[in-house]
Amino acid sequence: MKLFQDLDEWRRWRSQLSEPLGFVPTMGALHAGHLSLVDRSLRENERTAVSIFVNPTQFDDPSDLAAYPQPLQQDLEMLQGVDFVIAPPAAQMYPHGYRYRVSESQLSKILCGAHRPGHFDGMLTVVLKLLQLVAPTRAYFGEKDFQQLELIRGMVEEFFLPLEVVGCPIVRESDGLALSSRNTRLSPEERALAPQLARLLQTSRPPEAIADGLMRAGFEVDYVQHWRGRLLAAVRLGPVRLIDNVALETL
Ligand code: PAF
Repeated sequence: MKLFQDLDEWRRWRSQLSEPLGFVPTMGALHAGHLSLVDRSLRENERTAVSIFVNPTQFDDPSDLAAYPQPLQQDLEMLQGVDFVIAPPAAQMYPHGYRYRVSESQLSKILCGAHRPGHFDGMLTVVLKLLQLVAPTRAYFGEKDFQQLELIRGMVEEFFLPLEVVGCPIVRESDGLALSSRNTRLSPEERALAPQLARLLQTSRPPEAIADGLMRAGFEVDYVQHWRGRLLAAVRLGPVRLIDNVALETL
């Protein structure tokens, strides 16, 4: 595995590659969910690149950014078998600050976007930068961030980007909690409560009844809503925001 922390060096290297390249963009703090994307990329492409970049422009809450875990060494150890890891400094990703950005005017304003102003523009901006830098054949994203996945699909189509976007199923703990880098920030009591989110989403009750059940269990509820064939939810447990979703056809 080769680690690139300098984008010029990566771009020189990329220009020599002609084989199909799979790409898994991440913000690090890797877990089995990320590794399922990596495994799929390794199976479907001759080469695989993973990026690790905690993107400041997609954090609407500075305390969330400050608390975001960044265990780079541990992440690198988990990525054995990957060809390239790209972990650039923010100054190289944003050489002119945040002057140029991708702005989506509809889907980014609802659901999570209504509760996290600017989040999806920051996410789309960094994903566009990363896709330009890596120029992958296929890029892999988890379905846990379903709204993110739909926005990325829309951007790739709208800007005629020449790659395939591959959505991959949610990976869960044995108690049903969807894997997330933020789960490590749950207190033991919050961690014990957290699987209720997945359990209630899978009950096929109306969204309002599920929201009510979550509130009674102790969650703060941002939304529970049907969207594009899924039942999506975002909740807060203390300082930690959790999202999850289930496909309606499976209920
Ligand atoms: O899903 C994530 O981890 C991030 O939003 C992404 C796609 C890596 C962009 O920073």
